[in-house]
Amino acid sequence: MLVSASFLSSNNPPEDLKKLNETDVDYIHVDIMDGKFVKNKTMPFSEMKNIYKFTDKRLDVHLMVEQPEKYIPLYAELNTEYITFHLETEDNIEENINLIKKYGIKAGLAIKPNTEVKELLPYLPLLDLILVMSVEPGMGGQKFIEETTKKLEELRELLKEYNIDAVINVDGGINSETKSKCNLSDIIVAGSYIVNADNFQERIDSLR
Ligand code: DX5
Ligand code: ZN
Repeated sequence: MLVSASFLSSNNPPEDLKKLNETDVDYIHVDIMDGKFVKNKTMPFSEMKNIYKFTDKRLDVHLMVEQPEKYIPLYAELNTEYITFHLETEDNIEENINLIKKYGIKAGLAIKPNTEVKELLPYLPLLDLILVMSVEPGMGGQKFIEETTKKLEELRELLKEYNIDAVINVDGGINSETKSKCNLSDIIVAGSYIVNADNFQERIDSLR
């Protein structure tokens, strides 16, 4: 299992990013919130971009924003492997996927807990990654929503049926207990479970 570490719940992002750099974590998951798509707001790019001086890891960017097209060119400048935005943004989905790809970056689409997997269908052939939210987007430290397992099963079936080789990412409330409910995913995102511990590597090992 690949592990992507979110530092949203970190009290000291530069320090924790340095610590994560010493682990074998696969990606740094970057949660971006605009105060519109979700209530909370993360720091502006001008500040955020400095944070990535503290890590050499590839970034897995999760845009929880209303207008992904404003953020894609900025985050494309960093050491970014994936940029994922939400299907619930509704407008210009295909254009935004193509914009990400134009920068040579892999494109992902995320769905909130109440969005059905089949709504992804029109976009599946264009995607490199699908992110299934296992909590409501907006903050770290929430409880894993059990129905996620069923959605992962449906999504796995759909990818098989249409012969799509996009990876599945699952995000929210994941720890050593809930990870067994995410076996059908390729990547799991974990935030508070990792950054609230003293030994990051031990926590990462327990998620693999
Ligand atoms: C939630 C974010 C998640 C979150 C994960 O809106 O998208 O990435 O930070 O944090 P934990 O693992 O604490 O749920
Ligand atoms: Zn996230």
